[in-house]
Amino acid sequence: MTKTRVAVLISGRGSNMMSLVEAAACADYPAEIGLVLSNRPDAAGLQFASDHGIATDCVDHKTFPDREAFEIALDSAIRKHDIDLVCLAGFMRLLTPWFVDRWHDRLINIHPALLPSYKGLDTHARALTDGVTLHGCTVHYVRAEMDAGPIIGQAAVPVLTDDTESSLAKRVLAQEHKLYPEALARVASGQLDQQTDLDQSCLRVLR
Ligand code: GRF
Repeated sequence: MTKTRVAVLISGRGSNMMSLVEAAACADYPAEIGLVLSNRPDAAGLQFASDHGIATDCVDHKTFPDREAFEIALDSAIRKHDIDLVCLAGFMRLLTPWFVDRWHDRLINIHPALLPSYKGLDTHARALTDGVTLHGCTVHYVRAEMDAGPIIGQAAVPVLTDDTESSLAKRVLAQEHKLYPEALARVASGQLDQQTDLDQSCLRVLR
């Protein structure tokens, strides 16, 4: 089986990257993680990746004069590793249309909300303020507009009456760690049929 070679871009903790690395450790998983790259040298996830024998790199945005120069360096660092698909996983830099267009339909992201609701930051706090009863996460193709683009899959969780931002974030994150590996597998294997998976804690739907 020819596997899709994936670069995972992170900025910090990297727990979603870890879930992708763990999924890709299975022989029949259709993608392999060829690179974990951070824009911050102190990102905790870099150590995990190198401990797992994965190539790592850092393109520190602070060392570039502007976004254009940063993204040229980012693009070339990724291309050195023969990468087919880029997964953003807590990568905290907005990407310009230049980069997004270069990776059109080969750039996906996980967002901690049920898009198109709650684009941007502080999604859990805003969901609590609004009193929504369902919240969740979305994996989508990246387009130039922030947190937009065709949806690949979503997982929904209930918002409980005594939830805090942290308890809600924890419930959503547990689903992120299931949804992202499933969504990447579907993109990498080219499966397009809709699949719904209802378990006791959430509803996950992948296109
Ligand atoms: C996740 O909640 C992800 O959805 C968002 O940023 C967070 C990153 O967490 N884009 P981690 O670094 O993957 O642990």
